[in-house]
Amino acid sequence: MTLQGKDRRPKADIQSRNYGHFKFLPYDGPMKPYSAACERNKEPILQVLKTVITRADRRLLEVGTGTGQHAEFMAPYFPQLEWHPTDLGERLSDLKIWHRDLRASNIQPPQRLDVSKDDFPKLKFDLVFTANTLHIMHWKDCKAFMKLLGNRLRENSRAIFYGPFNYEGNFTSESNREFDALLKERDPLSGIRSFEDIHNNMTKHGFELVEDVEMPANNRMLIFNRLKFIG
Ligand SMILES: C[S@@+](CC[C@H](N)C(=O)[O-])C[C@H]1O[C@@H](n2cnc3c(N)ncnc32)[C@H](O)[C@@H]1O
Repeated sequence: MTLQGKDRRPKADIQSRNYGHFKFLPYDGPMKPYSAACERNKEPILQVLKTVITRADRRLLEVGTGTGQHAEFMAPYFPQLEWHPTDLGERLSDLKIWHRDLRASNIQPPQRLDVSKDDFPKLKFDLVFTANTLHIMHWKDCKAFMKLLGNRLRENSRAIFYGPFNYEGNFTSESNREFDALLKERDPLSGIRSFEDIHNNMTKHGFELVEDVEMPANNRMLIFNRLKFIG
């Protein structure tokens, strides 16, 4: 696991990261939510997903789909998969507008999913993917999410978390420290999560860490595999 050195990115770049607030851009219809961060990170995320998703996988649940840009870009690369986008109820109307105009036929209609409630769809998922959500969710919701994953995923299913993480109590870059301060200004209960806390909770709920991949701009991709289900 290699950690990034000193971050030299300009401040404007730090401030353009995704806080869970999206811009709305006009397109050939109503205003459509858009995240610049998604445009930058979708290709590197896809390259990692290609190493994790197999031909035998059938269903992927995306938690905190946001603008839908990740699903729209990535789902066509995995035609064997049903891609299930989900988000909080308040995001669903935007996601429905987005879904209406999609060309990728393997993206299912967006569903409401709040990890703090037990409304995980009653389907068997081979994969759960979530990007840039753990630093937005409150820690109690992150814990509820990991517990839910332990209850609902079966042996050899994978949970994939993309975003920034701290290691051994330290930020991995100055830009992550500033990002964390900005997050906390908006919501004191949000903030960059500790890798060790995520790892401990996932282990407690029956997962092993398969890979911790260094990603551009001081982000990581954590890949967990569900061990044999006991219970
Ligand atoms: C920063 S956005 C990330 C969106 C998208 N995945 C991306 O990478 O751009 C965080 C997302 O997490 C969702 N979210 C926040 N709390 C949540 C919860 N308790 N359950 C499910 N999603 C949640 C928000 O609605 C938002 O869409």
